[in-house]
Amino acid sequence: MMDQAAALRKKLASLNNEQDQPKTIAVISGKGGVGKSNLSLNFSIALSRAGKKVLLFDMDIGMGNIDILMGITAHHTIVDLFEDSLTIKDLLIKGPEGIDYIAGGNGLSNLFKLDEKKSEYLIDQLQIVLHDYDFVIFDMGAGMNEENVKFLMAMDEIFVVTTPEPTAITDAYSAMKYICMFDQAIPLYLVVNRAENESEGMQTLKRLKQVVLQFLVKEVEVLGVLLDDKTVQKAVSHQEPFLIYAPKAVISKNLLDLCKNYLDKNNEPNHDKNQHTSFISKLQRFFVRGR
Ligand SMILES: Nc1ncnc2c1ncn2[C@@H]1O[C@H](COP(=O)(O)OP(=O)(O)OP(=O)(O)O)[C@@H](O)[C@H]1O
Ligand SMILES: [Mg+2]
Repeated sequence: MMDQAAALRKKLASLNNEQDQPKTIAVISGKGGVGKSNLSLNFSIALSRAGKKVLLFDMDIGMGNIDILMGITAHHTIVDLFEDSLTIKDLLIKGPEGIDYIAGGNGLSNLFKLDEKKSEYLIDQLQIVLHDYDFVIFDMGAGMNEENVKFLMAMDEIFVVTTPEPTAITDAYSAMKYICMFDQAIPLYLVVNRAENESEGMQTLKRLKQVVLQFLVKEVEVLGVLLDDKTVQKAVSHQEPFLIYAPKAVISKNLLDLCKNYLDKNNEPNHDKNQHTSFISKLQRFFVRGR
């Protein structure tokens, strides 16, 4: 077993060309139902429209539902990678507007507790496809625990989604506090969803940013405001991403602005100056050495 792990590490070290690595982003929240899956899906499409190659990964344990939001039936999920000995390419689903998608499926709760052989297989398989993408977006389940927070540590960036509701805000704060206990330096981006209007949304973001700075001594980026818009429910019922279902809707405009804002921040010269370790190396640390 140890020989196998050592061999894998050696192989990854040789394959790990940092230039080639996609940017990995996890979309999280404290409270459930705040809009992570809709954001992950539509943000992926927006990135794709901006010319980026995107892989969207449904990591919502046991409750993955992005395929429903896209009106697609996933024949294989990440769980099958281990049970049916498929390769990762067998799992890739062509999503809308050129995005690729890997479904979460059920029974995924064990993904974070894979044995050595399975985690090596997963890392090995991910390594095969990662080079094909500019961005990998992980739609995570709500809430935080010791297992998934360690997985988050392998990410380049984390989007924290909240609504203006006090319960959602306090849960988002708790999630960030937990993350900061493990890694104070990981870049965090705040998104407020379902705001009544722009100024309520901005106020929520500014207050949360201020509290995080004061009590967690952590600087977070404000990414954008998405307004409450009935178009989202309609698009969900229609099983189409809202950017496609209603391109002119307020929510679609908000989302495109948010994506533009993100890409502008990403292009800033100082961006990434602290990031030297690739996703695969960090994931490897999590799975192989982190036990
Ligand atoms: N901007 C919005 N305006 C109006 N309704 C919205 C908006 N965003 C989300 N919703 C509503 O909230 C529901 C939940 O959204 P979504 O599934 O994206 O949340 P989630 O955070 O992924 O939930 P879970 O924690 O269960 O994974 C949507 O089906 C929709 O009805
Ligand atoms: Mg979800």
